[in-house]
Amino acid sequence: MATMSTPSFAERISFHDSIETMEVDFSSLTFADLAAVNTFFDLVDERLAQSGKSWYFLVIYSDCVISPEAWDRFAERGKMANLKHGLGTVRVGASSQTRDTIRQRAELEAFRANIYDTRDQAMLALGEMRKRRRDFKSSAEGTFLRVENVSLRFGGVKAITGVSFEIKRGEISSIIGPNGAGKSSMLNVINGVYHPQEGVVTYLGNARRQMRTHEAATQGIARTFQNIALFKGMSVLDNLMTGRNLKMKSNFLMQALYWGPAQREELEHRKKVEEVIDFLEIEHIRKTPVGRLPYGLQKRVELGRALAAEPILLLLDEPMAGMNVEEKQDMCRFILDVNDQFGTTILLIEHDMGVVMDISDFVVVLDHGMKIAEGTPDEVRSDPTVIRAYLGTAH
Ligand SMILES: Nc1ncnc2c1ncn2[C@@H]1O[C@H](COP(=O)(O)OP(=O)(O)OP(=O)(O)O)[C@@H](O)[C@H]1O
Ligand SMILES: [Mg+2]
Repeated sequence: MATMSTPSFAERISFHDSIETMEVDFSSLTFADLAAVNTFFDLVDERLAQSGKSWYFLVIYSDCVISPEAWDRFAERGKMANLKHGLGTVRVGASSQTRDTIRQRAELEAFRANIYDTRDQAMLALGEMRKRRRDFKSSAEGTFLRVENVSLRFGGVKAITGVSFEIKRGEISSIIGPNGAGKSSMLNVINGVYHPQEGVVTYLGNARRQMRTHEAATQGIARTFQNIALFKGMSVLDNLMTGRNLKMKSNFLMQALYWGPAQREELEHRKKVEEVIDFLEIEHIRKTPVGRLPYGLQKRVELGRALAAEPILLLLDEPMAGMNVEEKQDMCRFILDVNDQFGTTILLIEHDMGVVMDISDFVVVLDHGMKIAEGTPDEVRSDPTVIRAYLGTAH
C-alpha cells in the first residue's frame, strides 16, 4: 500500500486531454492483496466513467510491486477498464518480474504488452498508436473515393477536363456519357493506369497524385475491362485463380523450397475461388477454357476474377455491353448481390440507361471529358443538359 510520502490514489490519476491519454501512476506502490487492487481500480473506473470518453492509458510501474495473490484481480480490473474505456495502453518502468508477468499474460490473452524502458519511448509509441487510429478512422469514416479537378491529356487530346465527384462507400455508382466522353479513362485514373496531369484522387482517406496499378490492387481496387481481358486458353478456374495472385504470399521460389506451406496456401485460395464460382453459378463451366464460352459467360468469368481478389472497390467497364436481355438481367442481379452480400462499393460504366437507372444510387455524367451532371438517377434523367448531350442520342 501507499506510504505517507507517496501521493494519494487520486493524485495518481491524471488526464492529458490533448493526447487523449489517461496517466496512471503506480510507482512505488505495493498491491499486497485484492482490497488494495479494488480500491485503486474503483477510483480509476469512477474517473473514467465521469469522463464519459475513451482514453489511451499510460501506466507507470516504476518500483511497483504486485503480489502473486493480487495479480489475477489486478489484471482483471485492468482488462475491464480497457474494454470499457481503453484505446490502447503503453507501460513504463516495470521491474523485470512485473515485465515477465505482463508479457506472459499478454501472450495468453492475446493483447500487446507494450512495455517501454523510458517515458519518452512510451510517449512515442503512444503517438504512433494515435496516428494509426486516426488513419484507420479516416479510412473507415472519411472520404471513400473522391476525384478532384482531374484533367488527363494524351498529347493534344483532352480525355478528361477538370472533373470532380465523390463516391460513397457501399453504394453503386455509374458513370455515363457518349462514346469518347472519358469514362474508361476515368476508371484508369482511379486504379492508377493513367496518371492525370492535374488533380487529386483520394481513396480511403489517402490523397495521391500518382498511384501504380499494383498499389491500387493491394488497396482493394479490382476491375473488369471494356474488352474482356482473360486468358482465353486457360480454364475458368485458373482464370479466377489469377485474381488471387496479390493475396498469395508464397512466390514460385517458396513453392519450390517449402512445398508444404505453399500447398496449404494454394488450398485456401482455391476455397475462396470455389466460393466465387458458387456465387456466380458457374460450377458447370469451371474446367472449360474461357475462349470456348459464349460472350455473356466470359463477362461473368471476368467479374469472377475481380471478385476473387475480394475487392473493397469494384470498377466495372461496361459489364453488360454486347449481352442479350437475359444475360443483362443476370449480370444486374450479380452486381446487386455483390453489393448487398459483400458490401462492395461499385463504380460502373454502362450504356444501357435502363440498367443504369435501375441499379445506381448515384450517377455521374461525362461529355467530351467534362462532367455535365451528377445526382440520383431521377435527377440525372430529368436534367435537360443530359437529355441533350446523351439521352437524346441513340446508343
Ligand atoms: N491511351 C490513349 N491514348 C490516346 N488517346 C486516348 C487513350 N485513351 C483514351 N484516349 C482518348 O481519350 C478520349 C476518351 O476516351 P475513353 O476511352 O475514356 O472514352 P469512353 O467514354 O470510355 O468511350 P467509350 O464509350 O467509347 O468506351 C477519346 O478521345 C480517346 O480517343
Ligand atoms: Mg470506354
